[in-house]
Amino acid sequence: PPRVVVLISGNGSNLQALIDAQSYDELGGEIVAVVSNKADAYGLKRARDAGIEAVALPHQEYESREAYDGALIKVIERHEPDLIALAGFMRILTPIFVQRFFGRLLNIHPSLLPAYQGLNTHARALADGAREHGASVHFVTEELDGGPVALQAVVNIAADDTEATLKEKVQAREHLIYPIAVRWFLEGRLQLVGDDVTFDDTPLPPTGLR
Ligand code: GAR
Repeated sequence: PPRVVVLISGNGSNLQALIDAQSYDELGGEIVAVVSNKADAYGLKRARDAGIEAVALPHQEYESREAYDGALIKVIERHEPDLIALAGFMRILTPIFVQRFFGRLLNIHPSLLPAYQGLNTHARALADGAREHGASVHFVTEELDGGPVALQAVVNIAADDTEATLKEKVQAREHLIYPIAVRWFLEGRLQLVGDDVTFDDTPLPPTGLR
C-alpha cells in the first residue's frame, strides 16, 4: 500500500483522524511513521498506541532551519513515503525541504484559505465579524499557507461563538476532510499539476468490481 509520513507538533487530533481512517481501511494507504519537532507532543503517544513508529526530532538541537530540515529530510526519506502529511506541524519549512517533496506535501490549515493565513485564525475571524470560517487541505509550496487548495469545509460563525467553540467546530471538520483528501491523493485522483490542483471525481466502482 502507499506510504504516508505524518508530521506533527502537538495534540495530534488530525493524526488520530488519519489513524482511525486507516483502521477502517479508508485511508488508501499506511501511516509508516510520525515525526514531531516537539518531544512531548501527545500525538507521538497516539502513534505508538497505534503501533506506528514515532520519532521525536527536537528542533532546538539544530543550529539553523537548514540543518533541521536536512535532518528531517533524512528521517522522512528512510521511510520512502508517497505522501508527507503535515498535521499541526508548526514550523516553517525551508525551500530545500519543499522542493525535495514537491507535489507530495499536504497540509491542513484552520481557515478558508486564502483567508487567514498564519496563526490565530479563529480569533482573527471573530474579530473581523466574519460569518463563515472553516478548514482547508492544501498542497504545500514555498509560499507559507499559500499553496493550492484541495478541499475545504465551511462552518457558520454563530453570534455566541468564542475562540474555543469555533476552534472545536473547525477541528471537527478538519477530522472529516483530511482523511478524504489523503485518500484521494493516494488513489491518484488528486494531484498538484503546475500551480493548480486537478481532481478526478469519476466515481470509482466498489472494490472488487470492474
Ligand atoms: C489544527 O487545527 C491545524 O489545522 C492547525 O493546528 C491544529 C493542530 O491540531 N494547523 C495550523 O495552524 C498550521 N499553521 P492537532 O495537533 O490536534 O491536529
